[in-house]
Amino acid sequence: MWPCSLPDGQRDALDRALRECRTPAYLFDARAAVRCAALLEPLRREAGLRVLYAVKALPLGAMAAALAPALDGFAVSSRNEAELARRHLRPGQTLHLTSPGLRADDTPRIGALCSHVAFNSLGQAARLAGALPPGCSPGLRVNPRCSSLDDPRYDPCRPASRLGEPVEVVEELLRRRPDRLGPLRGVHFHVSFAAAGYEPVLSALERVEPLLERWPGGLDWINLGGGVLPARVSRWDDLRAAVLRLRSRGLEVFHEPGKGLVGECGRLVTSVVDRFTRDGTEILVLDTSVAHHPEVFEYGRAPALANEDDEGRHRVLLSGASCLAGDLFGEYRFDRVPEVGERLVFTGVGAYSLVKANRFNGIPLPEVWLLEAGGGARCLGRDGPGDFLRRWDGDNESECLREVRGR
Ligand SMILES: Cc1ncc(COP(=O)(O)O)c(C=O)c1O
Repeated sequence: MWPCSLPDGQRDALDRALRECRTPAYLFDARAAVRCAALLEPLRREAGLRVLYAVKALPLGAMAAALAPALDGFAVSSRNEAELARRHLRPGQTLHLTSPGLRADDTPRIGALCSHVAFNSLGQAARLAGALPPGCSPGLRVNPRCSSLDDPRYDPCRPASRLGEPVEVVEELLRRRPDRLGPLRGVHFHVSFAAAGYEPVLSALERVEPLLERWPGGLDWINLGGGVLPARVSRWDDLRAAVLRLRSRGLEVFHEPGKGLVGECGRLVTSVVDRFTRDGTEILVLDTSVAHHPEVFEYGRAPALANEDDEGRHRVLLSGASCLAGDLFGEYRFDRVPEVGERLVFTGVGAYSLVKANRFNGIPLPEVWLLEAGGGARCLGRDGPGDFLRRWDGDNESECLREVRGR
C-alpha cells in the first residue's frame, strides 16, 4: 500500500509510524535527509566545499541534529532560527545568517550566536556591523541580477528585488569608495529555487567573481546560497572547478541548500473523513488542509500521493477540511475509491510545510513524527485543543506574554 523501496529496518519504522500516528501527521525521515546530504560529500571531500543546512526549510531540532554530522553547519534567517541551530552546532562548524529584516535589538545576540552575518544592504551593514562581536565575520549579500525563474514571487533577482545589494552598485563602490567595503569580509548570493542543476549558481558567480579580486584587503569567504536540488543534479564538474578556483584564491566556499536536503524527506499522512459526488466529480474530504502544505495552494500544484494508482479507473478529487473553496489537493487516480477512515499519504512534503502550517478553521496542526537516522520512529509532538486555546484565548503563559503583561 505504501510504494517506496526501503531496507527492512526502515520499512518497519515507517510502517509503525504510518499505523500509529494520529492524522493529520507529518513524518520526517532523517535517514533520507542524511542520504541527500551524502550527495554533496564528494564536493566537501575533494573540493573543500562547506555545506550548510538552511534550516528555514524545516526548522526541526531533531532534523538539524541528524544532519549536523554530515554537514559543516547551518544557515539561518532570524534570531529564532539561530537560537535553534546553535543548539545543534558541532565544534568547528559555522552558523551563517542573512536577512533583509535584521533588527538592531537582535543584532548583538545574533552576533554572539553566528559565525558569519551577510548584511542584505550597504545601509544595513553601515547601521549594524558595529554591533557584531569580533568573532563574527561580517559580509554583504550581493544581488547578481541574473534571473533564471519564471515566477517572480520566487525570483530573488526580480526587478526591484530587495534581496541583496545590486551587483552594479558594488562595482561602482569598488571603483569610487572601496574603503566602504573593506570591513566586509565575505560575499553572499542566493539566486535560484528548486533548480535541477548548478547552472544558475554558476551564472551568478560569473557576475560576482570579478568583484572578488578587487575587494580591498581581499575576501575571506563566499556563500553561493541554496536553491538547488542535489538529487536532480547530473553534472558536478563545473561546480567542482569553480569551488577549487575560489579556494585557490584563499576563500572559504559555502553552499546552503534547504529544500534540496529535506524536501523529499517528509510525508503528510491524512485520513478520509467524508466522501460524495458533486457535478459528476467524486470528492474525498481529508482531515488535513492546504494550510498544512501551503505550496499546494501557492503553486496550484498537486503533491505526489503514495497511494495513487496511475492506471486506476477512478478519478477522485482530494480536498481539505477547511471552508476555503480552493482547499483542494488535486485529482488522483485510484482503482478503488478509498473509504472514510482510510489513510492517504502525500510525499515530498519535507520543505516549507511544518514551518508555514497554520490552524485555519481550528484544524489542528499535524502531529510530528521522526523516522530516526538510527532506524526507529518516534512522535515528537501533538497539537491539542489546549494549544489552540493557549495561542488564541489568552491562556498563554509564555515568557513573551508575561513580558507584554508586565509592560
Ligand atoms: C538566502 C537563502 N539561502 C538559502 C535558502 C534555501 O533555499 P532552498 O530551500 O530553495 O534550497 C533560501 C531560501 O529562500 C534563502 O533565501
